[in-house]
Amino acid sequence: MTRQTVAQVLLAVMLIISATICGKAEPLAVREARLQRVWTEYLLNADTVDNADSPQSAISDEVRRTIHERQTTSNEFYFNQNVDHFGTNSSTFKQRFYINTNNYTPGGPIYLFNSGETPASPSYLFAGEPYTLAKATGGMLIIMEHRYYGVSYPVSDMSGPSMQYLTLENALEDIANFIRNARDFVRASTGTTISPQSKWILTGGSYSANIAVWMRMFYPDLVFAAYASSAPLLASTDFYQYDQVVGRALPCAPQIANAIEVLDSILDYKNRALIDNWKKAFGLEVLANDADFAGALTDQMSNTVQYYMPPAKGSNGTDAIGALCGWFDRSYNHPLQNLADMTAAYIRNNGIDPTTAYSSGSGANNYELYQDGRSWFYQTCAQFGFWQTAPPAPLRRLRSKYVTASWQSGPCKEFFGENITGTPDVAAFNKKYRGLLPNVTRVVFVNGMLDPWSQLSVAVDSSISRKVINQGENVIITMLRASHVTDFYFSSSRTDFGVDVARARILEAIKGFLSHQ
Ligand SMILES: *[C@@H]1O[C@H](CO)[C@@H](O)[C@H](O)[C@H]1NC(C)=O
Ligand SMILES: *[C@@H]1O[C@H](CO)[C@@H](O)[C@H](O)[C@H]1NC(C)=O
Ligand SMILES: *[C@@H]1O[C@H](CO)[C@@H](O)[C@H](O)[C@H]1NC(C)=O
Ligand SMILES: *[C@@H]1O[C@H](CO)[C@@H](O)[C@H](O)[C@H]1NC(C)=O
Repeated sequence: MTRQTVAQVLLAVMLIISATICGKAEPLAVREARLQRVWTEYLLNADTVDNADSPQSAISDEVRRTIHERQTTSNEFYFNQNVDHFGTNSSTFKQRFYINTNNYTPGGPIYLFNSGETPASPSYLFAGEPYTLAKATGGMLIIMEHRYYGVSYPVSDMSGPSMQYLTLENALEDIANFIRNARDFVRASTGTTISPQSKWILTGGSYSANIAVWMRMFYPDLVFAAYASSAPLLASTDFYQYDQVVGRALPCAPQIANAIEVLDSILDYKNRALIDNWKKAFGLEVLANDADFAGALTDQMSNTVQYYMPPAKGSNGTDAIGALCGWFDRSYNHPLQNLADMTAAYIRNNGIDPTTAYSSGSGANNYELYQDGRSWFYQTCAQFGFWQTAPPAPLRRLRSKYVTASWQSGPCKEFFGENITGTPDVAAFNKKYRGLLPNVTRVVFVNGMLDPWSQLSVAVDSSISRKVINQGENVIITMLRASHVTDFYFSSSRTDFGVDVARARILEAIKGFLSHQ
């Protein structure tokens, strides 16, 4: 099997595993949310693609090991964290940490990687960019699990009221509280004493990169610097720019847009028999709701672009984008027929059950613990939005106009109750967190230009980049043909899309911060 097809199979395997692990149905809202949080799992997969003889079994073991199952390695520790930093509840819960002190030299930096919306993975203790930086600079590496993910749940169920302690503010204060107590905790856990000269450097990818930036912004006395990979800093309830990046990445975007336009007029016309025929052609006849049907079609395109990796130089791997667009070379078909054939094959090949994967609201009353996707969905409903919508006419769009913010946020109330409407006040949020102009210095921002999330990050607009750079010691790095959080991938052999160059600049920037202090 070629590298790229292995990667595709792995993604498929991973989708199945995450659907299985999460128990029963993975509802649409949660599935959408997973698209945002799945990258670390994918990274682990990407690594084993390079190394394992039997990648599929390696992957399932890895994913199984890191998700939901409390594991005991000698590097795993639990910190007694406050449930409620700002309210009246004085309970504590056990928050999971992994620590690697092997490379630490007294006075060296301490890299803290909060794993955001994914379970903390001990694999990052010994591979990946934070590890590389720690090794190169005599640093300690600490991986911290975010509250309400992995095994670090402060509550005993996931009903609406139980989600009340899941706020960004609590998550940031978790980190501050940990840093203030880290000397004792790390000594007691590992026997290593943190030197008072050691500086804290926060790092992360995607949402966890936001956390790194916001920690530097709000706790500058605790946090010396940050390295943020693909940080979508700007909250948005109508994030149609995601679709536009997908469109720019796919050479067959005109055909897809054409197919979607026709599909939308079919849906507008409300001829049930005709609509049902098309649902059947897509393999989605079980979806009664037309918007759910339209929404399901975004899955494959988004996954392909967000997790895109060009085939390695000299490999015979097929290109995932090329493979997707290959469906539209069949010009004897209408593009809508090609889109239907492509989607039906995707559903079949990935073993997706459309009812559980794509019906909105299913799973709303499942309050069992360890549904990380449900936690992330809550955070989007309560604070961030991040709803990926169809661009408004007359802009070209690859997703149906029925994919609206209100369709995406509709299940919020069903999942979490009246007080979560799914229309978070992102204007107030962006004012507080300063959107694309975080008031920070000593931050390295890295983005891939093929990453749809880059639209919410600082790299896109050159006047914004300039302002951020002019604030002081900030470094902005873009990788031309890379996508989401690609610099965190374990594999080191990809020089052909800007990652190696970016990695050298990241190290140089961190060394610069440390030497200019
Ligand atoms: C505090 O939070 C815990 C959940 O960790 C909960 O069990 C407990 O009932 C809460 N206490 C109060 C007074 O709300
Ligand atoms: C690619 O294919 C060619 C011809 O089929 C073969 O000779 C070569 O070894 C392959 N390269 C790799 C890296 O698989
Ligand atoms: C929901 O909001 C109302 C009005 O702010 C408040 O009185 C009520 O306690 C809230 N309910 C829950 C479960 O938080
Ligand atoms: C944030 O901005 C203020 C001025 O508005 C400045 O004094 C402060 O140093 C800035 N903070 C950081 C971390 O750069």
